[in-house]
Order: sequence, then C-alpha cells, then structure tokens
Amino acid sequence: MSADDDARRLQTANPTGWFEDLYAEAEAGKASVPWDQPHPQPHLVEWASGTDGAGRRALVVGCGYGRDAEFLASLGYDVVAFDISPTGIATVRARYPESKVEYVVADLLDPPAEWHHAFDLVVENMTVQALPVDLHARAIERVAWLTGSTLLVLAVARDEGPAPDGPPWPLTPSEIEAFACDGLTARSIRRDHPRWVAEFVR
Ligand SMILES: C[S@@+](CC[C@H](N)C(=O)[O-])C[C@H]1O[C@@H](n2cnc3c(N)ncnc32)[C@H](O)[C@@H]1O
Repeated sequence: MSADDDARRLQTANPTGWFEDLYAEAEAGKASVPWDQPHPQPHLVEWASGTDGAGRRALVVGCGYGRDAEFLASLGYDVVAFDISPTGIATVRARYPESKVEYVVADLLDPPAEWHHAFDLVVENMTVQALPVDLHARAIERVAWLTGSTLLVLAVARDEGPAPDGPPWPLTPSEIEAFACDGLTARSIRRDHPRWVAEFVR
C-alpha cells in the first residue's frame, strides 16, 4: 500500500482526526506519511533565495515534520511552526532536539488570539488542500488572519469544477484568489503546473 493509500484509508475512517491517526501509525511503523520529505519545499527555497530572516518572525502552518520550518530557521527567521497533530509535533521535536523553531500544537481553524497579524511571514504549504473542500473558505480566511505582512501559499492546483475524491483536495483559481482577504493583496500568483506559488502582502 502506498503512502497516499494510507492517507485515504485513515481519512475515510476518521474525516477530521485522521492526521493524528496517520502520525501515530507512522510512529508505530504501520503507515507512511506522503509528505515526509527530507528537503524543504523547492518553491519555498526558490522564493526565499537571498533572503535574510534576521529580526523577522515566521509562522509555518500545518508544519508536519518541520522541513520548511527548519529551512526558514536556517535563514535567520524566528520561527513558530504548528500542527494539529500532537504526535506529529512530538515527533518533529524529537527529530530536531537542538532546533530553534518553536513547535506548537494548534488548530488552524481556531488559532491562538495572540497570533492575529503577528508574523512577518506566513508559509502555508499544502494544509488547506489537506482539508475537505467545505472547510477551505474558513481555513483560507484564518491563514490571512495570521499574516502580518507577507504570505506565501504553496499548493497543488486544479481547475474549477466538482471536488475530487481526496485527500488531497487541490486548490482552484478562485480558492487561491480568496487568500486576498482581510487586507491582503495578491503580489503574484503563478501556476507552475501542477502547483500554485502565490504571494500576498499587507
Ligand atoms: C499535506 S500535510 C503538509 C505538511 C507540511 N506543510 C509539509 O509540506 O511537509 C498537511 C499538514 O497539515 C496538518 N493539519 C491538518 N489540519 C490542520 C489544522 N486544522 N490545523 C493545523 N494543522 C493541520 C496535518 O496534520 C499535516 O501535518
């Protein structure tokens, strides 16, 4: 069974709590996590080329195993990274015991009040697309709510039309454009097939 099959099997059994199930099964050696990659997202690396994060706060949404968070910390950012899965967060802390990143269990749909517009940079890489389509609008609005000045959205793209069988549920053009809310405007939206690379600024 592939890692994608493991994700779909657990999502069907537990539509909202399957992330924790997946991380727990992975810890027990019973499943593979499709996004467990040893390198940061290449589009993030490209976007951040030449960036000095010193003195800036970054937030990584749905951080998984911390690949993007650790990369941003290496650029000098003061990084907070959160995920809804307690086992996922415990695992990433164990993977990087010396990390400067603050790893936190939190829910994108109900984030801590003090995070409102609190981060110079927010990176959202494939979290909204991991949620069922009926939660996308709320999740997108929350990502904008977290952003102080710059938001980078990386996601798999699809055309408008009926929702596919997920997970994942890739983002449509209108969903990507919807991140331009709560005072954010789109600086660039690029479809690098099959992915969105979109930057928004306040
Ligand atoms: C497709 S994975 C991507 C992980 C990571 N961004 C990466 O690219 O490696 C989606 C992640 O979002 C997390 N997640 C799902 N729903 C969430 C929510 N409501 N709040 C915070 N994290 C969530 C999952 O646990 C999972 O780690």
